[in-house]
Amino acid sequence: MSLLLLRTLPLSLPLFRSFILKPFPKTTRTLFSVSSASTTGSSETHNIPNPKPPQPLNKNSNSNSNSLQWVTRTSFCGHLSTEDLGKRVRLCGWVALHRLHGSLTFLNLRDHTGLVQVTTLPDEFPEAHSTINDLRLEYVIAVEGVVRSRPSDSVNKKMKTGFIEVAAEHVQVLNAVKSKLPFLVTTADDAKDSVKEEIRLRYRCLDLRRQQMNSNIMLRHKVVKFIRRYLEDMHQFVEIETPILSRSTPEGARDYLVPSRVQPGTFYALPQSPQLFKQMLMVSGYDRYYQIARCFRDEDLRADRQPEFTQLDMEMAFTPLEDMLKLNEDLIRKVFLDIKGVQLPNPFPRLTYAEAMSRYGSDRPDIRFDLELKDVSDIFSDSPFRVFADALKSGGIIKMLCVPSGAKSYSNTALKKGDIYNEANKSGAKGLPFLKVLDDGGLEGIPALVSSLDPTNKDQLLRRGSAGPGDLLLFAVGQHASVNKTLDRLRVFVAHELGLVDHSRHSILWVTDFPMFEWNESEQRLEALHHPFTAPNPEDMNDLASARALAYDMVYNGVEIGGGSLRIFKRDVQQKVLEIVGISQEQAEAKFGYLLEALDMGAPPHGGIAYGLDRLVMLLAGANSIRDVIAFPKTTTAQCALTRAPSEVDTQQLKDLSFQTH
Ligand SMILES: *[C@@H]1O[C@H](CO)[C@@H](O)[C@H](O)[C@H]1NC(C)=O
Ligand SMILES: *[C@@H]1O[C@H](CO)[C@@H](O)[C@H](O)[C@H]1NC(C)=O
Ligand SMILES: *[C@@H]1O[C@H](CO)[C@@H](O)[C@H](O)[C@H]1NC(C)=O
Repeated sequence: MSLLLLRTLPLSLPLFRSFILKPFPKTTRTLFSVSSASTTGSSETHNIPNPKPPQPLNKNSNSNSNSLQWVTRTSFCGHLSTEDLGKRVRLCGWVALHRLHGSLTFLNLRDHTGLVQVTTLPDEFPEAHSTINDLRLEYVIAVEGVVRSRPSDSVNKKMKTGFIEVAAEHVQVLNAVKSKLPFLVTTADDAKDSVKEEIRLRYRCLDLRRQQMNSNIMLRHKVVKFIRRYLEDMHQFVEIETPILSRSTPEGARDYLVPSRVQPGTFYALPQSPQLFKQMLMVSGYDRYYQIARCFRDEDLRADRQPEFTQLDMEMAFTPLEDMLKLNEDLIRKVFLDIKGVQLPNPFPRLTYAEAMSRYGSDRPDIRFDLELKDVSDIFSDSPFRVFADALKSGGIIKMLCVPSGAKSYSNTALKKGDIYNEANKSGAKGLPFLKVLDDGGLEGIPALVSSLDPTNKDQLLRRGSAGPGDLLLFAVGQHASVNKTLDRLRVFVAHELGLVDHSRHSILWVTDFPMFEWNESEQRLEALHHPFTAPNPEDMNDLASARALAYDMVYNGVEIGGGSLRIFKRDVQQKVLEIVGISQEQAEAKFGYLLEALDMGAPPHGGIAYGLDRLVMLLAGANSIRDVIAFPKTTTAQCALTRAPSEVDTQQLKDLSFQTH
């Protein structure tokens, strides 16, 4: 059978099959109906002869090992159970485990649904027995046989199909493995760690066969399917695709550029998000848009970043803030319940940005643990301790993190040069001032700091931190932003190190009322905290520069999983905001004149949100890396380990694009 046929008749497999499968030599056994039994789900139907028996397996697989063969299967490995006892089945899959045991041979057969044990019947079906004996791991085979109970001493309660096995009567090798496998496809959880990620990504086809990866990818599918059903069926959202070849917009990160051949010297940009297109759709009257959108950012890779990533992108017209939040809470609550069986609170707690920053030093606090930060600037306002006094004089603040029972957990040496010190250092802190509350109520720490506190100050300090004997007080001093950053980092570090995170809890919340702008010190200008299309709070219109935005982030266990805002839908407001972030009218006209124009053509009030789908699935799957929930992710050096992209291209291709070549 030629490969040509395969290419020209890809859709006519049934026809094809009849060409390929040679008839199975007559045996004394009748082939029973398998499919009818599986649809009725009854174990008694196996005696009903099938009027049209399935094509039997080709027994003599070796003689035509070069040919391509297609086999119809009747069941899936992972779906078989004691309900199928006595049923004749034909399974297809990979040899996952193979062992000889006395005169018997066992193997585990794996398909995308799971594993099932296959045994041989050496006396009755010697050929199947000998074929199975010769198998190696990851061979692709078809097995026909009868489902039976395992002997009680070989029942495997840990395995979903552990009570049954399939006694093989006919086995056909569909494909052998000719090369040495770079690693074993095991179900062991530690497999991931024992094989370097480079290797896993290079041989992704094997890696994706592993049960762990399989369940991640299937979970991703389930999540997306669930989201689609919810949005489309319950809320009449419409999925609309937006262009991938687009133009550079001011989203903040670096764009991936695609040179145009037809317009030499010009470039498309790959979208960092479909932001402006979805706003266009709102102006066009498609009230409820969503898309599982691929987005691209040419950033330096951090552990949890990918150059291309997937966003669940939504936009709604005529939907006030509360309705927007409610619909999204409802979506995420249902996803968590359906996928993880976790009941999230209703409604989600909310924190304003100011409150989150003040109490946790972060706009995405993990509130599975307390450890709240306290501003203690007032206590040190007249302090003889120079470091603190000077920081306050130059407009800074002093904040404190009280670590319950932390005094014994961290030695003075650790606090001066250990991991916890390094953590403060990494956040940019120049040191890590600390105090320990001793058992007798006295203080220990930097001597000048201890001696700077009179009894009143000391008392105030302990009360502010609800601190008592055995507790540890950590301080950060300096400018507001850096103090918050340092203590946020220390808070999370300490909580994980001291086991203060209750992993059975799920912390989910909205952070709202973000400022519209933040000051960029290096550029000496205001920049939009979300993006410049975010609507300001109507109460703050008189002073736009310090206005709060109608923006909201959804935060799960300290990770931002989604963020959005209501948008500006009037041209004059949009222009004012662009001016504040330093985009002149001419620049605005040139870069997104089409948006400004649209805002003047009947733009409805609208807003939306985008979720990082990779990250959301990672959290739901309990995976450690988003690369474990993406079928073909890029490596940490932004390469594709399979195709070796990016790659050099032909000189001719470059010439076509009017690039200089030499
Ligand atoms: C952090 O530690 C490094 C190495 O000890 C030091 O060079 C650097 O100055 C420290 N950073 C700060 C902000 O003090
Ligand atoms: C840090 O927290 C303080 C209050 O504790 C707050 O006033 C300040 O605005 C925060 N800084 C930033 C950059 O958010
Ligand atoms: C300031 O702006 C520059 C250029 O846009 C950017 O690279 C940098 O990250 C910004 N700094 C802060 C603190 O946001």
